[in-house]
Amino acid sequence: MSKLLYSSIITLIILLSLLILYILLNSFVFRTVYPIDSTPVVRISNGPVQGKFIEYEKVKVAHFLGIPFAKPPVGPLRFQSPVKQDNWTSVKQVVRYGSPCLQRNERITPEQSDEDCLFINVYVTESTLKSSSTSFLRPVLFWIFGGALATGFGNEYYDGIPMVPLHDVVLVTHNYRVNAFGFMHFGDKEPRIPANIGLRDQLLALQWVQENIDKFGGDPDQVTIFGESAGSMSVSAHTISPLARGLFKRAILQTGTVMFPAEDPDYYLENSLILLDRTSCASSTDPLKCLQNLPASTILNAQSDGPLKFRWFYGDDFLPYSPLEAFSKGLFDNSHDILVGVEKNEFSMLMGLLNATQFNAKINVTLNYSQAVDYLSLIFNKDSLDYYTDLYFNSSTDITSAYLLKQLEKAYSDTILVCPTYMFGVNYYSNGGIDTGKVYGYYHTQKPIISFNTICDDSPWMGTCHGSDLTYVFGHPLVKPGYPQKDIDLSREMMKIWTYFAEFGYMPRVNEKEWKPLNKDLSAMVLNIDNWGEVERERIEFCVQHWDGFVQNTKTNFTDIL
Ligand SMILES: *[C@@H]1O[C@H](CO)[C@@H](O)[C@H](O)[C@H]1NC(C)=O
Ligand SMILES: *[C@@H]1O[C@H](CO)[C@@H](O)[C@H](O)[C@H]1NC(C)=O
Ligand SMILES: *[C@@H]1O[C@H](CO)[C@@H](O)[C@H](O)[C@H]1NC(C)=O
Ligand SMILES: *[C@@H]1O[C@H](CO)[C@@H](O)[C@H](O)[C@H]1NC(C)=O
Ligand SMILES: *[C@@H]1O[C@H](CO)[C@@H](O)[C@H](O)[C@H]1NC(C)=O
Ligand SMILES: *[C@@H]1O[C@H](CO)[C@@H](O)[C@H](O)[C@H]1NC(C)=O
Repeated sequence: MSKLLYSSIITLIILLSLLILYILLNSFVFRTVYPIDSTPVVRISNGPVQGKFIEYEKVKVAHFLGIPFAKPPVGPLRFQSPVKQDNWTSVKQVVRYGSPCLQRNERITPEQSDEDCLFINVYVTESTLKSSSTSFLRPVLFWIFGGALATGFGNEYYDGIPMVPLHDVVLVTHNYRVNAFGFMHFGDKEPRIPANIGLRDQLLALQWVQENIDKFGGDPDQVTIFGESAGSMSVSAHTISPLARGLFKRAILQTGTVMFPAEDPDYYLENSLILLDRTSCASSTDPLKCLQNLPASTILNAQSDGPLKFRWFYGDDFLPYSPLEAFSKGLFDNSHDILVGVEKNEFSMLMGLLNATQFNAKINVTLNYSQAVDYLSLIFNKDSLDYYTDLYFNSSTDITSAYLLKQLEKAYSDTILVCPTYMFGVNYYSNGGIDTGKVYGYYHTQKPIISFNTICDDSPWMGTCHGSDLTYVFGHPLVKPGYPQKDIDLSREMMKIWTYFAEFGYMPRVNEKEWKPLNKDLSAMVLNIDNWGEVERERIEFCVQHWDGFVQNTKTNFTDIL
């Protein structure tokens, strides 16, 4: 009897020691592998994953970071459409961002980017994650980053905190291939390299969302795609792509579309040939195989920097028609609800691409009339130059340098970013027929203290720059130091508006005022805390009035100057 008691005590001691050892091992040895605050395991179609919780104002937010959604696009998969990831069986820890795709970008060192980069991130509150087994599913916002299709990645800057805990939506961000790796294309000269590879990466990520997001508590029938700059251009492409049909319900275009007033696809084929010529593969009998065998860095170093040097093509299965064609022939899915918007001074920050000395961010730029007209002549055909000179620079009272600069910036903004964005919305509803989704516009005019493109921040002349919306949409003023109350206030409002639209497909009231769709009122809601509830008409009416002229009169290669 006492022997039995003795042995049970020994057993108990052994069990207790094992338990203590387990706890110790867990906290010291496994700590780096299994974060203390791990999420439950989620079984996605490829296999089990486990993320981590991070708390924001007492709400636990699950972060699933760096989930591979495609096979690494390396070796024989380089310059090819993305291929679904293979399944795995043991639990994959997804607690760190995956590498950005290979790029030259002053925000990261070259070593921080990698050809193996097709990763997706999911942010969701603990309560929604837990209820994923029930039918309580929340709207999904699917982000497409910008960076002129040359740079960028969907990691830290576009964090799910604070948007996800504040509005209980599911945020998905991802990386897609950029620059030549995502967009090099030779047309018929090398049909084995498809067009629009980077956009196809985004498409596969969207398909991944359809397949998996309910397991995280996201509603696959309530997906809103949103993006800024090249991300917004991508959003517009998915909106008219037959391959993206049914993969999302709503779209937010934050500056930029693939609808340029004029363009010359040969220029982009030419850039691919120039790149090929700079490598040892130019004389190869099988250039594709040769390019796939080169070190990735050789290809990166052989390509020219600059925005949109490699970009989308029309005529394939992804983008069979240009937007102008798709709209005029009614060849698009008209069921989406769409929000389109721009910044007040879209092109100011990009004018340095025209002449970095003259358009220095830090100085008061001086510009005389003849210089201004010379810059304008890069956009418009000779025959129309007088007309546009008059349109933009004719002022009997004010021909100061500051006025010329403002008007020149407006001309570039109008043709490249502002009017393509607003006119995408206008064309969408006016060619969509009676059952078209709702289309809304915004006009963002508040300059944040700290913006995505910091070159803008202390510039005496740049105004509310390209990308200034990002600060607010991703809630930086709420979680980072240094922002004044009005930035915090606008950020709260913009997150509310974005997530409200994603959930309901129409707009909340702004300062008690109704936000009317573009087909009811050709105006855009001003997003500025000092002008809360005001609408902008002039800018969007100008676009409607001058769009056909832009289509006829802009040079087909005018974006080469960038
Ligand atoms: C991967 O797993 C899914 C189920 O989660 C299954 O439908 C699919 O066939 C599997 N794929 C492969 C290649 O085994
Ligand atoms: C750029 O601007 C500077 C200053 O106005 C001028 O001296 C220079 O010639 C310009 N460069 C080009 C390439 O136009
Ligand atoms: C630019 O001009 C403004 C007003 O004319 C002046 O106050 C400011 O000091 C100038 N800034 C620079 C960098 O020259
Ligand atoms: C405009 O500025 C340029 C560069 O400073 C100068 O060469 C030109 O003479 C100026 N033109 C006029 C009309 O003042
Ligand atoms: C400039 O605009 C005024 C009206 O604002 C017009 O009378 C004048 O003819 C225009 N000048 C030119 C050169 O077209
Ligand atoms: C655009 O094409 C025209 C005519 O072919 C050419 O003269 C001009 O230099 C080109 N512009 C740019 C910026 O390459």
